[in-house]
Formats: sequence, structure tokens, C-alpha cells
Amino acid sequence: MKGLILSGGKGTRLRPITHTSAKQLVPIANKPILFYAVEAIVAAGIDEIGIITGDTGAEVEAAVGDGSRFGARVTYIAQDAPRGLAHAVLCAREFLAGEPFVMYLGDNLIRHGIVPIVEGFTETQPDALILLARVPEPQHFGVAELIEGKVVRLVEKPAKPTSDLALVGVYLFNHTVFEAIDAIDYSARGELEITDAIQRMIDTGRRVDPHLIVEPHQALVATWKDTGRLEDMLEANRIVLDDLAPRMEGTIGEGVRMHGKVIVERGAQLTNCTVRGPAIIGENTVIDDAYIGPYTSIYYGCTVRNAELEHSIVLENSVIENVEGKIESSLIGKECLIGRSPLRPRAYKLMVGDHSRVELR
Ligand code: G1P
Repeated sequence: MKGLILSGGKGTRLRPITHTSAKQLVPIANKPILFYAVEAIVAAGIDEIGIITGDTGAEVEAAVGDGSRFGARVTYIAQDAPRGLAHAVLCAREFLAGEPFVMYLGDNLIRHGIVPIVEGFTETQPDALILLARVPEPQHFGVAELIEGKVVRLVEKPAKPTSDLALVGVYLFNHTVFEAIDAIDYSARGELEITDAIQRMIDTGRRVDPHLIVEPHQALVATWKDTGRLEDMLEANRIVLDDLAPRMEGTIGEGVRMHGKVIVERGAQLTNCTVRGPAIIGENTVIDDAYIGPYTSIYYGCTVRNAELEHSIVLENSVIENVEGKIESSLIGKECLIGRSPLRPRAYKLMVGDHSRVELR
């Protein structure tokens, strides 16, 4: 079996972060979301992985490399334009060479991985296996209708969903998916939809089995991507942090109090601070005279000094200094500076990128 990870797309719903970076490289608990996909596929015993890339291909390639550090061999496949998930599969035709494969959307996160799912597919050998999860706003997803446990209908982002079962971005196929893709047309939004291809498989008598994810939150079906809601991304961070084991690889100086599960990565330096886990402090990050509260991920090369931060994600090389109130439920990009100016007038002075959101007290 092979793996196919889709890592193209523009990530418009995650702006401004995606103005400068691939959405699949946004870190959740200090690890690019894409890496969880690679690891999940490798854990399921698949080491030949194709990654479909678009505009951000160079960045994705730089981050993942040849796959050896994941125990995989990664082949990059360029998709010239974002023309749909089924179009991406067509781009990988040669790479897949008729083998069955798991297709994994690089911005999806499946909490406990896909090992039993891949095993189930190999054992029962349907033509396709689709993952479904109940979601509160199914209109943002492909939606499935089941009758007596069988998939009868799939509709991509229906205005009036007939069920709350969303297609999760992990699909398993054998070669028959290509016949289906060859037979479908571009949708109204100008894409070759994998949802339509699967519907075509059903209509032509292929066996499409559902795998229902029942445990709430087991699949983080990237609702944050679809709604652009920061809260959903923070939730993904929260859930992943909850699963991590504490680790201490940095330097702990004077006056440090740590409670709960805290991960301190290599080269991080903590002094005069309270860190209340679950939280992760990234490589070479400095925390001084500060409070880091639960569900906070601070990536590498940051400084947090004379500030309080909670339930937030901070990307690499940012500085947060001398902030009076507590910062919470926030997503702070790369190389940002949040500080205090001694100059008069005492006013908010902002230089904020396009599509940013600033909420003041
Ligand atoms: C894609 C699929 C959709 C699926 C979703 C899962 O949508 O088209 O059927 O439910 O991924 O993340 P997108 O959000 O890429 O438009």
C-alpha cells in the first residue's frame, strides 16, 4: 500500500497565518500538522508516501525532506492548480502504480491515528473505505447518508445537509477509484471532487464501506480550516497537548514553578516563571518573569518576558514582552513583536498584517 498526502491549497480561511506559510505547516503542540499525517501513515506500516503540493511546495519540501527521519520515502508531486482532491489523485496516478492507497488531507488530524483503519481495509478489501464523523456544522464538509449502515449518498458541502455525518479527510482506495475519477466532471466550484468520484463508485456497484468515528474529538476534521475559527484550532492544540507525555530537555533556572504536564524542548530557558500544563515550550525559547497557563504552545526561538499567556499558540521567533494584561485564546504568528512602548502618547500602536484580528480589552 502507498500513502498520498495532499498538501496544496491556499489556506485562505486561515489568513493571515497562511499569507506567509502553508496551512499544513501550522504547528499544533509545536509540530506541523502535516507531520502528524506522515507519522500516522508510517505507523500504519506504509513507508512509500507521495505528497501533492501546490504554491507552497518548496516550503513543504524543506520541512518534510526525503522522509527518512519519519522512516519513509517521500516523493513530491506538483499539482499545477488547486483543481480538486480527485484531480490531485490523478496527478499521482504514476506514483500510485495501481496499488491500493490511503489518501490523507494534510490539514486533517486523526487523534489516535489510522492503524486499525488501514488494517480493516486490508482485511475486508472494499473498493473504498471512507471515514465519517458527526459534526455540528456539516454544511462545511462532504456529507454522507447511510441506510442500514451502507453509504448510499455523498454530497459535497450541501446547503441543507441530510445528516450530520461529515467526510473526514482520510480515504482508502484501490485502483478502481481511477475509473470513477475519469468518469466525473468538474463541479460548480471548478474542482474534480473526490466526493463525486466516491458517489460514482457507489453508483457503479463498487463497494464503499464507511468507518464511523464515534468518540467525540477523535477526528479533528479540520473544522478550523473550514470555518476559519481560531477557537477550533486552539481546540486541536488542546486535545493534542492533553495526549502528550511531559518532557524536560531545557534549562530550569531560579524561581520556576511547574504544575501538570509540561514539555520543555531543547535549549529552552525558564527563569522566574510559573508554567501550568499541559503546555509546551519550544527549542531555544526564553521564558522569564512570566506565567504560561494551560493549553499553550510556544514554538521555537521565542521570548516571553514580563507577560502572561494562556490557551494560545505562538509561532516561531516571536517576542512577547512587558504586557500588562493576560493574553489568552490567541494565535500569534512568526517573528511577531508584542510589547510596550515608553513613548508618548500612550496609545495602541499596531502594524498588523492583512486579514488579522486584534481584540482589545
Ligand atoms: C475536503 C472535502 C470534504 C471533506 C473535507 C474534510 O473539503 O472536499 O468532502 O469533508 O475536506 O476536511 P475542503 O475543506 O478541502 O474543501
